[in-house]
Amino acid sequence: MVPDALRRAVPNLRFPRCAVALRDKLFQSTFSKLFVYNILWEDSEVDERYLGVDEHAAVLSITGAGCTVAGMLSRRPVCIDAVDINPHHLALTALKVNAATRSPTYHEFYDLFGRGWSPDPEMTVPRLAEGLPDWMQRYWRRHWARFATTMLHKGLTARMLHLLRREVGVDGPWLRDVIRLPAEERRRAVDARIAPVLAKPHFKAFLKSPIQLVSLGINFQQRDRLVEAEGLEMVDYFVEHIKRVASTDLATNWFGWYVVAGHYDHDNPDAVPPYLRRDRFERSRGAPTAVRYHKRNLFDVLSQAGPGTWSHYTLCDAPDWLPAEAQKRLLAEILRTSRDGAIVLARSVEGACMVERTGMDRHFRRLDEVSDAATAEDRSRQYRRVNFYRVAH
Ligand SMILES: C[S@@+](CC[C@H](N)C(=O)[O-])C[C@H]1O[C@@H](n2cnc3c(N)ncnc32)[C@H](O)[C@@H]1O
Repeated sequence: MVPDALRRAVPNLRFPRCAVALRDKLFQSTFSKLFVYNILWEDSEVDERYLGVDEHAAVLSITGAGCTVAGMLSRRPVCIDAVDINPHHLALTALKVNAATRSPTYHEFYDLFGRGWSPDPEMTVPRLAEGLPDWMQRYWRRHWARFATTMLHKGLTARMLHLLRREVGVDGPWLRDVIRLPAEERRRAVDARIAPVLAKPHFKAFLKSPIQLVSLGINFQQRDRLVEAEGLEMVDYFVEHIKRVASTDLATNWFGWYVVAGHYDHDNPDAVPPYLRRDRFERSRGAPTAVRYHKRNLFDVLSQAGPGTWSHYTLCDAPDWLPAEAQKRLLAEILRTSRDGAIVLARSVEGACMVERTGMDRHFRRLDEVSDAATAEDRSRQYRRVNFYRVAH
């Protein structure tokens, strides 16, 4: 990654590929040790709408914080292989999965993950972790106290957003006022209230810093793709991003609530990720789905699987973290391990398409109608493309 001043002076300058690869290795090693997110920054309602998981499905999923994986349980697939290199995210996913299938009441479940809180976390959290791999049970015996105040304020991203909210002075009541405005006025409200704070030198420097990239889950490879696609510096990208979120149906946009208010809108049952809604909870309880957890690199899990293993692959935006040659290896491994007609879901910050770039378009057909609708509907507004591909052998 070229420093910004140098990039402006010599626009086509690049560090050698090995230097970029080294920075991304360091990034991955740092990222995988930190508790970064407590929610998935992808619109899991869109995933649920278009993915087509059903009772015959076998899913391989990168979890992030697990909202999409937990949401799949209401579709009762045969199995889910949940993968993440980050043990904090995988353990949180597993707790969401166990809570969705085993919580005695919706009330307890919603308190835990809708409010991030439990009246008795020391008992409740380890109880819900029972039956999980040993390392996860140990993890939750150590970390149950996250739910003593609110888990939704824990983790690097939540802490960064807390700082931002404090500096900007926004909260739930401000958001309710903004929601009532037409979209153009909402964008102006962001310009008036949030943009000037982000433009302050210390915030600009913070937004460019590597720790900030970690808190946003953007590695150097992805940041290059993002800056190239948007033609903006990180700070301008961030303001544009908030304006894009402000232009969505804010009343149901749980990302907007989480960022601005620091909590979900508990008055609107549709303003939370689907797995948290009562009807999904009722369908998920007692789901027969076998969920296996892999605290490993996706490539390791793929390499140990045989042909015809999975019908659905959900990759988050992890392919954006990979250089083109690794994207090609990933697609080749998916081709080898997939059932005919399998569906692959991947988000990207760039307009270019990885299957075309890697020459794999003969085997991965982008479902244009569905992908374009999903891209338009994803309320996280972080991705230029939400791509669904169908695999053809
Ligand atoms: C790609 S990150 C980016 C943020 C993501 N859009 C979200 O909403 O969470 C999502 C997750 O992918 C995981 N991840 C990235 N590359 C991976 C890989 N090769 N194998 C397994 N997990 C990976 C990270 O640890 C993280 O938890």
